[in-house]
Amino acid sequence: MVVCGAGLLREPAPFVCRSQTAVAAQRRTPQRRTPQLAQLKALTPCASRTALTATRFPSSQIVTLSEFIAQAEALEQHVTEQLRSTDLAARLDVVKGEVNALKDQRLAALQSAIPKLESHDRKPGGIRFNELKQRLQAELDAFIDRQNAAGGNAVVVDLTMPARQSWRGSLHPVSMVIDEISDIFRELGFTIALGPEAETAFYNFGALNFPPDHPAMELHDTLYLGQDTLLRTHTSPVQVRTLQQYAPPVRVLCPGQVYRRDFFDATHAPAFMQIEGLAIDEGISFVDLKATLSQFARRFYGGSRRVRFGPSYFPFVEPGAQMDVEVDLNDGKGLRWVEILGCGMVHPHVLQAAGVDQEKYTGWAFGMGPARIAMSRHDIPDIRLLYDSDVRFLEQFAQ
Ligand code: PHE
Repeated sequence: MVVCGAGLLREPAPFVCRSQTAVAAQRRTPQRRTPQLAQLKALTPCASRTALTATRFPSSQIVTLSEFIAQAEALEQHVTEQLRSTDLAARLDVVKGEVNALKDQRLAALQSAIPKLESHDRKPGGIRFNELKQRLQAELDAFIDRQNAAGGNAVVVDLTMPARQSWRGSLHPVSMVIDEISDIFRELGFTIALGPEAETAFYNFGALNFPPDHPAMELHDTLYLGQDTLLRTHTSPVQVRTLQQYAPPVRVLCPGQVYRRDFFDATHAPAFMQIEGLAIDEGISFVDLKATLSQFARRFYGGSRRVRFGPSYFPFVEPGAQMDVEVDLNDGKGLRWVEILGCGMVHPHVLQAAGVDQEKYTGWAFGMGPARIAMSRHDIPDIRLLYDSDVRFLEQFAQ
């Protein structure tokens, strides 16, 4: 068994403290401030473990020089005895800490007793006090010397110490969803493409076949940075940028942050992630879209999960659709359809704006919100939880 500390504070104090009767007696006669010597003699040795606290060692108990000296000697004797019997394998910081705690409590109490001594006793009291301080330090130094001579206390391994809390780092649930989706599409032949978050109106709207007066372009749902630049409202501009840069066949997945002038509430955030997908090749039809996205849903949600496609409208696809997945949100309402993405065949105007031969190539695209997907997967009731960085929430996803 390894000894960690000297137990200086825990040992029964050799000092006197007032017995219960004396305490009770004083409570009854609170006006009596300075007990007489007879009363001091009546004090019994204190066996309490917290006998060193200031209340049990009141400086007001010391009224004469001899009492003062007696207390100083008792303290010195206690510390000396304890340090001499302390295991040399004890941790030095613990031993030092205990000596310092004793100094804080008892030396301070003694010091505050000095001004209360008779005037001619104050000087000898002060001298005794300084001596005591030096001797306590000398005793500690001697302990350190003995410990060093014994080879230091490097051998200490305290098996009883509580283990440190171990923290498991984890990816954010939205990042996990993005990684997982990227892995599935990578296996299907898709590569990652990225585009700028500060976009021009042309890429965000014009090239994507938004008519000039389309409501999505209005100031109230778009964050403009200037006349013609804005924070992209979706990842679809990456479709056009990719097609301008690479000749078909193209299969890309474009994850990225998008921005909308939305309130931050349980279901909306003004900045959120999207994942865009685009496949352009010769002879691609809606069948490829359905097959690929159904395959994705089976991989992501599990083979038995049902998906369905329904019509939807986006200016840059024709026909446009949405894919719903049947999920159980564990709210007692059972399985229900949840829309997880918008999709469709890339509109010929988009191919044209991107400089792709629309007679030769066709393709499909989709866009989804991984935050919504993470929420439906983990029954997260409020999107703001994903932004709070609350470790108590996030650590639940540590794998
Ligand atoms: N860009 C659309 C949105 O933000 C999603 C989408 C992408 C729809 C691609 C169809 C095709 O809602």
